[in-house]
Amino acid sequence: MAFIVITAGALAVSSLPAETAGPAAKIDYNRAVRPILASHCFKCHGFDAKERKAGLRLDLCDEAVKPRKSGRPAISPGRPEESLLVERITSTDEDHVMPPPSTGKKLVEAEKDLLKRWIAEGAEYQAHWAFIPPRRPALPAVRGHIGWPQNPIDGFILARLEKEGLRPSPEAGRTALIRRVTLDLTGLPPSLAEVDAFLGDPLHIHDLNATILHCLGIDHTRLTFKFQGRDFRLTDVAGNVAHRLLA
Ligand code: HEC
Repeated sequence: MAFIVITAGALAVSSLPAETAGPAAKIDYNRAVRPILASHCFKCHGFDAKERKAGLRLDLCDEAVKPRKSGRPAISPGRPEESLLVERITSTDEDHVMPPPSTGKKLVEAEKDLLKRWIAEGAEYQAHWAFIPPRRPALPAVRGHIGWPQNPIDGFILARLEKEGLRPSPEAGRTALIRRVTLDLTGLPPSLAEVDAFLGDPLHIHDLNATILHCLGIDHTRLTFKFQGRDFRLTDVAGNVAHRLLA
């Protein structure tokens, strides 16, 4: 049942941009840098001591900024031109470039630029995201459109739309909503009876609940049901979905 809640949530967030704060935002280690290092470098410069090459760790800030034999560190925060990492990733010498060509991996220009920019900005590492308490981000500045934004999440979506020169689509009608929810849940369009029942209910929410439950093959006269060994209350599950769809 968690499925339908996630599905409905996805309708709201699927258009969220990867980086919401705009082009001037500081590079985020967890979001942008760690994935590049993890897939291209950590195999030989990570926590696994047996696999580690040149005694170099790039997964820990303290290790990455230590001066190496040459006197220069792999990462010199704020100084990409002094950082061995930048020298190695931009090298055109096959024996020098990182990752070594024998790995079959290669950084593209955008990834190299990103690493350079991150070092120029101070090379701030972050703990794994799971250990960072969630913080409410500042709301982006938006010009606003008729009826938008209606809630803070809309603000993030609108900021990205405005960046792309797009406008929010007009709100979908009830028929489109019922069609979306049944297609989402069953892969089939709603029956005429389901559409009529939904349109005929002045409150809408109750019929949408019933339709969702019907699509899922659940008898909506029962108040609780078991799914994968857990008890669910229909009102919670369906109510949540309906409220999100109609919000
Ligand atoms: C398959 C293993 C492997 C991978 C993957 C790899 N390296 Fe290396 N790296 C090495 C080896 C071996 C050396 C030592 C030989 C050398 O200097 O070329 C080295 C050396 C280095 C050095 C120089 C250290 C010094 O003291 O001079 C840097 C900086 C470096 N790697 C950065 C990276 C970065 C950044 C990545 C990912 C983009 C990466 N490496 C991926 C194997 C690897």
